[in-house]
Amino acid sequence: MLVLGFESSCDETGVALYDTAKGLLAHALHSQVAMHAEFGGVVPELASRDHIQRALPLTELVLKNANKSLKDLDGIAYTQGPGLAGALLVGASIAQSLAFTLNVPSVGVHHLEGHLLAPLLEENPPQFPFVALLVSGGHSQLMRVDGIGEYELLGDTLDDAAGEAFDKTAKLLGLGYPGGPALAKLATLGKPRFTLPRPMLNSKDLDFSFSGLKTAVLTLINNNQPLGEIKDAQTQADVAYEFQESVTEILTAKCMAALRETGLDNLVVSGGVGANTRLREKLNQATKRKLCKVSYPRLEFCTDNGAMIAFAGAMRLKAMGLNATNFQKQDYAFSVKPRWDLAELTKP
Ligand code: KG4
Ligand code: ZN
Repeated sequence: MLVLGFESSCDETGVALYDTAKGLLAHALHSQVAMHAEFGGVVPELASRDHIQRALPLTELVLKNANKSLKDLDGIAYTQGPGLAGALLVGASIAQSLAFTLNVPSVGVHHLEGHLLAPLLEENPPQFPFVALLVSGGHSQLMRVDGIGEYELLGDTLDDAAGEAFDKTAKLLGLGYPGGPALAKLATLGKPRFTLPRPMLNSKDLDFSFSGLKTAVLTLINNNQPLGEIKDAQTQADVAYEFQESVTEILTAKCMAALRETGLDNLVVSGGVGANTRLREKLNQATKRKLCKVSYPRLEFCTDNGAMIAFAGAMRLKAMGLNATNFQKQDYAFSVKPRWDLAELTKP
């Protein structure tokens, strides 16, 4: 069964082709980072307009790279939410129009389900059940995953998400947008010199809180430089280092606590912050010590991409027993869900 997937929830247009028998056949991505950089963040209207321009050329590219044509498709998947309404509408309307024209089933995918399942695109994929750490720009959640659509929330952030904390701290340090990767890079040049708090490290639950950490960084900067701007490159790197140590220590400790509490020995990490090298180092060490397994998506599938949407959509269509041959009729009216709680998902 061959499924075309569209991701357009924020500032990346991703398109991919997933074959349930052969795996991922092709994927392509256009990042809008350069376009939004001059505004210091994502401009929703510009994002929507860019998705419109990119979606079809990327579709042609993946079909060509996989040596397939539109008539080979058995189904179409698109990100239905959560995300920017206008951006979501672009992917949804293109996906639905194509599905209507080709007379194949379509499925709206939850963006976070895409992230959660992304590690399953790799060789030796993790088996259900597992504990998932989902750390992106908008979410920091720990979940117990028993199967597709079977997600139990174990812990959540009380304020900022981990990626958001990276981005906001990067801004305080005068690094550009998007800040997370830039801060992580700078941290490799830093040394242990400052001490920042580890919020909620010893709380008895599996929740997170990162906004106090950002304030602590601001205080540290102000104490160091009354003008609120660090001019010395080494000091800047040392702050980045300590910030990254704090976030990765907290995330690692909570993952290990979640494994302990659930009695599971399988951890899966996904979302943009899952690309962080220091986080991976710490999780690798901690899971090895406890004889647990940890899986990650390849780096390019940690951040937003079409492959995870094609995959999650294919799993849902397959579980529903829908394909182009047995498919009868579908109502192609659609809506997007800019806000959509993962807990609302059910088994297909
Ligand atoms: O999953 P994602 O691409 O988009 C959302 O759905 O939010 O995650 C983007 C987030 C951003 O906050 C970005 O700064 C962060 O992931 N990020 C990183 C790294 N790469 C991306 N944070 C820390 N270290 C990285 N290497
Ligand atoms: Zn995402």
